Amino acid sequence: MKTQVAIIGGGPSGLLLSLLLQKAGIDSVVLERQTKEHVLGRIRAGVLEQGLVGLMRDVGVADRLDKEGILHDGTVLSYGEDRLRIDFREHTGTPVVVYGQTEVTRDLYDARDRLGMDTVFEVEDVTLHDLDSDAPSVSFTKGGDTVRIDCDFVAGCDGFHGVSRKSIPASVLREYERVYPFGWLGILSETPPIHEELIYANSDRGFALCSMRNPMLSRYYVQCSLSDKVEDWSDEAFWDELKRRIPSVDAANLVTGPSIEKSIAPLRSYVCEPMRWGRLFLCGDAAHIVPPTGAKGLNSAAADVHYLNEALRDHYLNGSDAGIDSYSARALARVWKVERFSWWMTSLLHRFPDQNDFDLKMQQAELAFLRESDAARSALATNYVGLPY
Ligand code: FAD
Ligand code: DHB
Repeated sequence: MKTQVAIIGGGPSGLLLSLLLQKAGIDSVVLERQTKEHVLGRIRAGVLEQGLVGLMRDVGVADRLDKEGILHDGTVLSYGEDRLRIDFREHTGTPVVVYGQTEVTRDLYDARDRLGMDTVFEVEDVTLHDLDSDAPSVSFTKGGDTVRIDCDFVAGCDGFHGVSRKSIPASVLREYERVYPFGWLGILSETPPIHEELIYANSDRGFALCSMRNPMLSRYYVQCSLSDKVEDWSDEAFWDELKRRIPSVDAANLVTGPSIEKSIAPLRSYVCEPMRWGRLFLCGDAAHIVPPTGAKGLNSAAADVHYLNEALRDHYLNGSDAGIDSYSARALARVWKVERFSWWMTSLLHRFPDQNDFDLKMQQAELAFLRESDAARSALATNYVGLPY
């Protein structure tokens, strides 16, 4: 097989990139390790920045998002019984959109199907070759056959556990990491959301987040121990714990019901540099991970895709490699600011096992400063709605 850009990974990054390239007349192939049903069954992010919404519009897949996405003009932070609202529109003029990553992915696959774009699912042993030459290629096996794709470039959109990043020589790759001493237990339930906006709660029992997908589908999270197993948490225990972590005025509005999904995610900050090596470009979780506090994972993947699309368009349509040469530095300049924000939101709102009274006072002072300072709330809102591309 032959293509211009071989895209490893059929998650949101790979799919969005393929559609943007297609719009510019650039040919690509998407290779995905899982089945489509598996990819569409994963419950992940829920809050979209305008940058990602704009990219969905650019590739003509925003009809359902425009109809079903819920605009949020602000969010609530709480500390025990104290509540503080951050008004995005007042500070930035911009709302965020609540619309699940599952729906984003479904819309992208549907658009690719309409356009007759092929995804190769259930590929195994994906291996990248000759990335530092002018003639890279990708090989994989499927159903016992080995296939080779010759290409001009490889886009590594294969998430944190993919092969792309591992194809960069260890002597070149620099990694930066923080692993947090807790996880998030999340549930999805077919119940009305507790409040019209999200609630990020810091309590003496740990963090909790009240989110939603639509008027009859709620998403809730509680900070949990890394040793906890999903089976340890009955629905009843989850609802009980959630109620104890949020202000009582909100707890009074909680409608409980059976969970339809329950999962635990560990929290990690991670960045690798550079994000380009030879003819390989990394996008999204393949290059960086943020803890979910602040909803930045999917959104920063979209920003990388935007920069890479611009770089490849410049190469193919304008004969300029300036975008390719600056891709890593441009993407990383935004990534590090998003890493900082996600780390800060996580530090502000969680209870850490080794936290002492001084650390608690620091969290309280930070929240008090947010309450009193227009500039501090503005800084939070600016980061939450998304830094410009
Ligand atoms: P992915 O979505 O990981 O997609 C990569 C794709 O590549 C996958 O489909 C994978 O199957 C495929 N792949 C992997 N290896 C190979 C290979 N060798 N060959 C071919 N294909 C391969 N972000 C938030 O903002 N809020 C959240 O609540 C949130 N929750 C999350 C929960 C979990 C459990 C995880 C893992 C992430 C969560 N995130 C969340 C982060 C967010 O979902 C990611 O940032 C986003 O999915 C990144 O998209 P991506 O396309 O770069 O990577
Ligand atoms: C959701 C996840 C987040 O990490 C976040 O900050 C906000 C919302 C969600 O899944 O709805």
